[in-house]
Amino acid sequence: MTRPVARITGTGRGIPSKVMTNRDFAAIGIETSDEWIVERTGIKERHIAQGDESTCGMAASAARTAMARAEVHPGELDAIVLSTATPDRLLPSTAVDLQADLGASRAAAFDLSAACSGWLYGMTVAEGMITSGAIETALVVGSEKMSSIIDWQDRSTCVLFGDGAGAVVLQRNKSKERSGILSTFLRSDGKLADLLYRPAGGASIPLSAPVLEERSHFVKMAGREVFKHAVRSMSEAADRALDGAKLTGAEIDLLIPHQANVRIIEATAKHASIPMDKVYVNVDRYGNTSSASIPIALDEVIEKKIVGPGSTVMMVAFGAGFTWASMIIRL
Ligand code: ACO
Repeated sequence: MTRPVARITGTGRGIPSKVMTNRDFAAIGIETSDEWIVERTGIKERHIAQGDESTCGMAASAARTAMARAEVHPGELDAIVLSTATPDRLLPSTAVDLQADLGASRAAAFDLSAACSGWLYGMTVAEGMITSGAIETALVVGSEKMSSIIDWQDRSTCVLFGDGAGAVVLQRNKSKERSGILSTFLRSDGKLADLLYRPAGGASIPLSAPVLEERSHFVKMAGREVFKHAVRSMSEAADRALDGAKLTGAEIDLLIPHQANVRIIEATAKHASIPMDKVYVNVDRYGNTSSASIPIALDEVIEKKIVGPGSTVMMVAFGAGFTWASMIIRL
């Protein structure tokens, strides 16, 4: 079998220091409890950006660590792919702010919007650019300031999300090892968009006084429906990634699912016949950081040496759209 073309050479994360626990919701007038949130989701706390902490700032912090570990200088980046549902501004992209911040003078830079699946979409796009010969080195970032788009008066959503960023350097595989991306899978179903969305604030219903009054620029979610589709689609994505890499669940050293809800994670692992001791869970500490969740987790498992060179890792995501995606890599 030929060697994979693109491999991860460095990872990093950028996390705001402010921690908000489940008990802290009482102080902002939200009627909830630690027991309710933990039982339904597994979340105990999340990090929340403060003051001038931005989507770009978190991304830059993740990127600098990833680039230091990959021993890549800003001038060596050919492309910056930044997945986010929370760009700092709608025009221009947050990726160009990151490009300027890093001083990546040769890099193309663009945002990619695929909600919680966005980082895996971005990895697949960057892999394609490397495979085609267009570029050698990409920075692929997921950065989300979810606290800026959730309704802090809606207890059914505001307890679920957190802020943060994760980044990797993806490079043409010059090593003799069979390391890199072994398979990828991407899907979407826009007929279901209204189950998890921001009704207003975009081009079709621009921000206005009534929009602000109705709070319809914030995230709305049909939680139970989302739950059902998440379990079904993440299971399908796991199957397709395994088929694509010609592997079985037993050959996966670690599953990193999108960190939204521990019950969705358990159902996905069970479907793929992967025991929970081979599944990484950090949703208890971060909540749902959307497209940042998988690269944050990947950085943690490499740092903690839970996986290392030669390990086979499967990543599976699901999010608004709906979009769903998976990827198997060998480190
Ligand atoms: N604290 C206390 N009670 C609450 C809270 C809260 N924070 N939120 C809702 N409730 C109440 C509801 O008002 C309702 O009360 P009622 O029965 O008196 O009307 C009750 O709890 C049950 O509400 P449900 O929404 O039916 O609760 P459910 O068991 O479905 O759990 C949850 C809700 C946790 C959101 C679940 O549906 C879920 O996890 N869905 C997946 C959503 C998700 O992960 N989205 C992330 C984006 S997509 C992705 O990343 C995968």
